[in-house]
Formats: sequence, structure tokens, C-alpha cells
Amino acid sequence: MKEKMKKEFQSFEGGLFGDVEKADVGDSYQKLGEQGVALMGWADPFTPDFSLPKHVLDKTLEAVCSPLSAHYTAPVGNPDLKELIAEKCKKFNHLDLDPQRNIIITPGSDSALFFAMFPFIEKGDEVMIPSPSYPNNFTNVKMMQGKVIPIPLYAEDGYQLRIEEMESRVTAKTKMVVLTHPNNPTTTVYNRKSLEDLSAFVQKHDLILVCDQAFEDFTFENEMITPASLPGMMERTITVCSVSKGMGLSGYRVAYIIADDKVMDVMYGCAVSVIGATNTISQVAVMEAFKDPSFMDVFAKSYDIRRHAAYEILNQVPKVNVQLPQSGFLCWVDVSRLGNSSDICAYLIKEAKVALNDGINYGPGGEGHLRIVLGVYEDDKKVIDALHRMANALRNYCA
Ligand SMILES: Cc1ncc(COP(=O)(O)O)c(C=O)c1O
Repeated sequence: MKEKMKKEFQSFEGGLFGDVEKADVGDSYQKLGEQGVALMGWADPFTPDFSLPKHVLDKTLEAVCSPLSAHYTAPVGNPDLKELIAEKCKKFNHLDLDPQRNIIITPGSDSALFFAMFPFIEKGDEVMIPSPSYPNNFTNVKMMQGKVIPIPLYAEDGYQLRIEEMESRVTAKTKMVVLTHPNNPTTTVYNRKSLEDLSAFVQKHDLILVCDQAFEDFTFENEMITPASLPGMMERTITVCSVSKGMGLSGYRVAYIIADDKVMDVMYGCAVSVIGATNTISQVAVMEAFKDPSFMDVFAKSYDIRRHAAYEILNQVPKVNVQLPQSGFLCWVDVSRLGNSSDICAYLIKEAKVALNDGINYGPGGEGHLRIVLGVYEDDKKVIDALHRMANALRNYCA
């Protein structure tokens, strides 16, 4: 059967049956948890602990009991939720949106990213992706038969953009730039210079920008700038946001696409025919989170403690380098002077009882690195203990 698939798909590896050292989606990852290994590979806030804010829980229960719960919400999304999202976008993203024309709700931002790219990418189109990056960006381009053009990012720049690296790779086939901002895995919050240079570049070459802002909610020292808010960018940017990371509501599967209405109409038609509508109960419950997002302050405090702990603990290990995470709850660790990151991941499972992500999954520039999800588990101490175990094991790695 496999030989009947399109050529691109025949060599495609979903990761379902891969080694746990290389993937965090297989059965084996969950089994490690049962064996007492700290699972720090899923970017899912406080997983597996209970972290649902009470007002969201109450609304969920109320929504389940309402007569509408078993029925579709209009495919474009709950209009009241879109009003709340438009208010948030005005305050937070500095975007002036018509809630019913510039926003659609999707079940998670993974599908939103797919639908943001799908109408544009034709076979052979080139898509620039600053790398290391969120792996699905690469996968989506391949599935659409486009060509990924990785754009190198450099640790010495704090992983900010070097536009000359993009300029030198532009061809007649360049169609799009996909930016994960803040970046997963490096946590970089792209600064004004990077984004203004990017905006000038995108406009000069008549490109489309897809900007994934799944991690926009927690940025520490750096200002969070939404590229679509820069002059001339709204009409050529598709912005994707989610409640999964910031609000810790990944299981609710609610995200949204923001776009100019001409583009939005096509995206809507395309998304509707594949996903239909987003879960009715989730959309009602998520409204409560938008009405009172104060619970996110508690998340921010915890992430702040954890990122400083990771920075201090891991930087004490010879040959290990960590920059202070700039956003969210991830940490990007350079172990290239110690050895091969796949071997180190496997070693840490055994010796430190910690499962992390191997940097090779994040595209060129990811090799020799580890991604740690600091945002797992409710208890900061559990995460900090795991970091100490990791540091001790890494000290012995070459000894
Ligand atoms: C950068 C980034 N974008 C998007 C997603 C997808 O999140 P969701 O589909 O839960 O909104 C993830 C999940 O890990 C992510 O890390």
C-alpha cells in the first residue's frame, strides 16, 4: 500500500514508531513516565497535573449541561468568543480586527498553521524557515510539496534574524516565510530590528508571512511585537495564536487564525471542508479564560522561577551552555561540546531519569542541543530536582 502514496509521503516519518530518543509521540514516551522518568518533552503546561482554573472548569460543566452542547458551533467559530479574541488582539497584539471577518477559530494551532499555508504553497514553492524551528513547519511544507529553505540562526545573536541570510537565498520561487515567534525551541522573542527587517524583506520580495504566536503570552525581558501590526504587514501576514500554551488549555483544542478578510475567505472555505467546526463546549469555556485571564499570572511566576533555575543549574556543568530563556516554559541547551545530542538524550533517560527532546528534531542548527520543557508538572521543585539530576549526570557524561 505504501508504494501507492505520493513520493513525498513514502519517505515521511510521523515518529509514531520511532525511538523515544528521537521522538516524544510514541507509546514508549508515556511508558517511561510509568517507570518514574520525569517527562519533560511535551510542551503542555503542568502536564500531567490538574491545572484547570476553577472558573473555566465551572463554565465547562455548565456548557456540557446546556442544550447546545451536543451541536455544532458555526464552522467559522463562536461569534462571542471571536469578540473577546478581537479585544485581546487590540490590547495585546495592537491589531484592529473585525471579529467576524478577520478571525476564525480552529481546533488547535497545528491545524491553523496547515490552513494558513495550504492555499498558498504549490509544488516547488520555496518556504523560508528560520531554523531551529517548530518541527511541524518543515513537515507542512513537505506535505504541500514545497521546498524548505532553512535560514540559519546564531546563538551569538541570541538567535535573532540576520536578514542577509534570507536575502542571499531568495529566488523566483520564494513564496513564504514561516516564523515561530517566540521561537520554539530557542525561546527567542524576535526584537524590533529583526521584525522590521523581516517586514521590509517580505514586502520587497512580495512574500507572505505566516507567524505562529503559540508562545506569545509569556515573554519576560523582551517586548512582544506582532509582525502583522507593522506598517504594510496585515494584508500579507497570517497570524496564528492558541490557548494551548499561554492559558494551559491544550486539551480544549482552541486556536485562531487572524488574517485580512480577502485571504480569510479562502482559508475559511478550505478549513471548513476539512475540519468542520471546533468543539462547541470548549469554545464556550475558553470565553471564561479570556474574560478573566488572571490565572496566567501564577503560570508566569512559576515559569520565571524555572527558567532562572535551569539557567543557573545547567550553566554550572562544564561544556554546557544555556541562554536565559526569553519566553514561555522551554529551555534550549547547547551540549555540542559534550557529544552527540541523540546519545545524550538516551543517556539522560537512563542516568537522570529525565526524558527530553533531541535538538535534531528542530531542523538544521538543532543538532548538538536538547530542548527541555520546564513547564511540566505543577510543582516547581519536581522540575528543579530533575534539572539537578540532569546536571549531575551531564557532569559524569565524559568522565
Ligand atoms: C510553536 C508551536 N506552534 C503550535 C503548536 C500547536 O499547538 P496547538 O495545536 O495545541 O495549538 C505547538 C505545540 O507544541 C507549538 O510548539
